[in-house]
Amino acid sequence: MRIYLPPRATAGAPKRSIGTFMARILVLGGDGFCGWPTSLYLSGRGHEVRIVDNLSRRKIDVELEVESLTPIRPLSVRLAAWKELSGKDIPFETFTVGQNYHRLVTLLRDMRPDVVIHFAEQRAAPYSMKSPSHKRYTVNNNLNATNDVLCAIVESKLDVHLVHLGTMGVYGYGTAGMTSLSSTIFRAGRSTSSWKSNR
Ligand SMILES: NC(=O)c1ccc[n+]([C@@H]2O[C@H](COP(=O)([O-])OP(=O)(O)OC[C@H]3O[C@@H](n4cnc5c(N)ncnc54)[C@H](O)[C@@H]3O)[C@@H](O)[C@H]2O)c1
Repeated sequence: MRIYLPPRATAGAPKRSIGTFMARILVLGGDGFCGWPTSLYLSGRGHEVRIVDNLSRRKIDVELEVESLTPIRPLSVRLAAWKELSGKDIPFETFTVGQNYHRLVTLLRDMRPDVVIHFAEQRAAPYSMKSPSHKRYTVNNNLNATNDVLCAIVESKLDVHLVHLGTMGVYGYGTAGMTSLSSTIFRAGRSTSSWKSNR
């Protein structure tokens, strides 16, 4: 993944170009399947990475009595191994995006990220179909997380680039001719969305 930050509109602002700019990057859902390798990759390229995750995916694995073929070590062990290998720290915070709004806003204000990568969703359609409570949990979790991320970016008044990979195509956008895979890139106040159409 290459992070490209287009030059800011402000006249005289320093130009940011591919490969040279070291960004501050907040990875929401950074303990997950997509979030962990993304965090390592960006940290390995010299970016300042911070992870937020509520570890819900690990709890779901316990509930389903499933294990990964490759053992997934506790996050503190993974972070310590990364520090030993690379010499780089990845700070980590545990909270639920979509519930702990003030913590999210405070984190944005303190860290002042250039980029937020949002993977913090319940990913699996089969899991959401287990029962009414699983459905409600999935939709509440995923919609509230994204809504809070957008709201917090606006409230923080930061010029943040947002990369979002989520499931919500499954849960509500089907009639609009969109697939379950959607990615959206927002830039403070304006947004460009790219959707894979079914058609
Ligand atoms: N893995 C894929 O190939 C793939 C493909 C297309 C889309 N997606 C979508 O991308 C997103 C991430 O996928 P993944 O495979 O990394 O899933 P994952 O479950 O492995 O990772 C998501 C991470 O987010 C955390 N999380 C969930 N809700 C949270 C919340 N409210 N606050 C904080 N942390 C929260 C989980 O604990 C988990 O670590 C999902 O929405 C998924 O549907 C994934």
